Amino acid sequence: MATALYPGTFDPVTNGHETIIIRAACMFDKLIIGVGNNTKKQCMFSLQKRLAMLKRVAKEYNKVIELDNIEVVSYEGLTVDFCIKNKIEYIVRGVRANTDWSAESSIAYANQLLCAGVETVFLLSNPDEIGISSSVVREILLHKGDVSAFVSSEVLGVMNG
Ligand code: COA
Repeated sequence: MATALYPGTFDPVTNGHETIIIRAACMFDKLIIGVGNNTKKQCMFSLQKRLAMLKRVAKEYNKVIELDNIEVVSYEGLTVDFCIKNKIEYIVRGVRANTDWSAESSIAYANQLLCAGVETVFLLSNPDEIGISSSVVREILLHKGDVSAFVSSEVLGVMNG
């Protein structure tokens, strides 16, 4: 049974993340969405709120794809340590453009050196979602703008709840 972790800060989870979630859930027997700790980021949404958003999204996709194989958790410490502890063989990350690649490859290389048994799998984002990022969503929210083109109705519901 192949299990993958999709780690991220998800501050907040965007339509771009959701595309990766659904594609990865169809590729692996089990997909664990892990809210990790990016020490470089100061979050707008609490961990509790980010987990609630992701759980709403997972519930929706578990219903749509009828695989019921998506789980949401939070973890502390190194991503590979979480993988080793939970017998997770794959880390999934979405890549939008060259800029993502340089950051993502350095994390993946570090993870490879930390634990060769955990393989990073990159999924290309949808071309029409290249302009979407959590920081763009946060910026729009700070200016009281409409983010409905960037996040799903499930996420909007939790944001406004
Ligand atoms: N479509 C649209 N946007 C996407 C995307 C996609 N397919 N994939 C990523 N993004 C965007 C996100 O919106 C986010 O945008 P932002 O930076 O403008 O906010 C950015 O790309 C990446 O954020 P996110 O996906 O939430 O994850 P992250 O990069 O903050 O998460 C961790 C990083 C948590 C996975 C990483 O820091 C980690 O593993 N931390 C634990 C410590 C560790 O093990 N470090 C690695 C070894 S050194």
